[in-house]
Amino acid sequence: MALSAQEIYKHGVMDFYGRDFMVTPDVLIPRPETEMMVDAVLDLAGKPFVAGVKPSRRVLNEVPRILDVGTGSGCIAVTLGLELVGAKITAVDISDTALRVARENARMMGAKVQFLKSDLMEDVCGDFDVVVANLPYVDRDWEWLDTKALSIEPELALYAENGGCALIFELIRQASNRTKFLILEADPSQHDRIIDFAKQEGFSLREERGFALVFNS
Ligand SMILES: C[S@@+](CC[C@H](N)C(=O)[O-])C[C@H]1O[C@@H](n2cnc3c(N)ncnc32)[C@H](O)[C@@H]1O
Repeated sequence: MALSAQEIYKHGVMDFYGRDFMVTPDVLIPRPETEMMVDAVLDLAGKPFVAGVKPSRRVLNEVPRILDVGTGSGCIAVTLGLELVGAKITAVDISDTALRVARENARMMGAKVQFLKSDLMEDVCGDFDVVVANLPYVDRDWEWLDTKALSIEPELALYAENGGCALIFELIRQASNRTKFLILEADPSQHDRIIDFAKQEGFSLREERGFALVFNS
């Protein structure tokens, strides 16, 4: 981010996937690396996301059921709602204030997304074709951590126990048998641990795309 978090919150808007998202101090400021999560879903849907590059073979049906866990500003869910018209998109967060921001972003951009309050997948019914999640994965003990730069964003959106992997591991457990594809964002230094854990829970690694890990069940 070229601007500081303080400046972005003051401005109240952040670009994500070419669209302006409203951001308040209740939500994480969308990061460029998270755009790869959207790319990964579009790739499964056989949609071109880089001009001139041949799209992959579509592996999702025409009306995929997609769940975004830890939606924050709604940047992933709203973008998917606009890029994959017809998809059935549900987005959850444990924070009421974040959900308010996400709903407003969806309303302003005309995206069809169902928002629910839920602790990970606990309060969500049914199965999905894709579960996508950019959950908190920052470990407070990382020696390279710039705590000052992160201090203005919500702690609930940033930090997790167990080397930053606690929430991701819990979601992997909950998602097993409930989704065909699981797409997770994590720091690349955490990928090996997450891949090992997901394999124990019955997932296979399909692709590693920058910060994104794509698994199939
Ligand atoms: C890293 S932020 C990601 C926000 C947004 N998806 C993005 O990519 O910018 C993580 C989000 O997960 C939410 N969260 C934290 N713990 C959660 C839990 N147990 N269940 C659901 N959401 C949770 C936070 O409130 C926050 O909005």
